[in-house]
Amino acid sequence: MRVIAIDGPAGAGKSTVAREVSTATGLKYLDTGAMYRCVALAVQQSSTDPHNAEAVGRIARDVKVVIEEFGAQLNGTDVTELIRTHEINAIVSVIAAHTPVRDAMREQQRAWVAHHGGGVIEGRDIGTVVFPDAELKVFLTASPVVRAERRVQQNGGDIEVVASSIAERDHLDSTRLDSPLKPSADSVIVDSSNRTISEVVQEIVNHFAQVGHG
Ligand code: DC
Repeated sequence: MRVIAIDGPAGAGKSTVAREVSTATGLKYLDTGAMYRCVALAVQQSSTDPHNAEAVGRIARDVKVVIEEFGAQLNGTDVTELIRTHEINAIVSVIAAHTPVRDAMREQQRAWVAHHGGGVIEGRDIGTVVFPDAELKVFLTASPVVRAERRVQQNGGDIEVVASSIAERDHLDSTRLDSPLKPSADSVIVDSSNRTISEVVQEIVNHFAQVGHG
């Protein structure tokens, strides 16, 4: 299966880079964070307690989530904007820590890749857990200051508030028991702090060419 896994913390530039790697390689792009965000939105809309693993797991199994290159649908409704609010940022890492939720998402991600014959898959646990045999695994990171500044440039907001929200999400994502955010032993670590998008994309495409495609 031709899979390029791109994992890393919030604000490292994963979405932009993954989209461009997708264009350069012809592989389809999947944003798995958007899938978790859709589940978080369904939890919010049904007033379910985000800490209730069983109830949230049931929602994750029951909802119909469709992720497109630039959008997302939840049960047939466009939720592209609704999944990017502060409220969703605040609960998504809580719901993503539950094993029943991760089981449901992992199954859908593997089905998506089987259907598309591969892909550029962006997330937190793609190289470590979802596709441990991916042809190329990239761990994309950047300094906390740069990540916070990028988010403020994209979405506005106060730098201190954004930085602390990112730090809290990173902490939850990397300390959870089930598939925490961490580089796999065989991943290429790319620091995007002082580099342009096209430099980072080129480096990833070069690595992919070296593993036999390109
Ligand atoms: O990439 P993002 O910021 O849209 O992801 C939102 C949250 O979803 C992230 O904080 C943790 C969770 N997530 C995850 O647990 N596993 C993934 N493969 C992708 C995202």
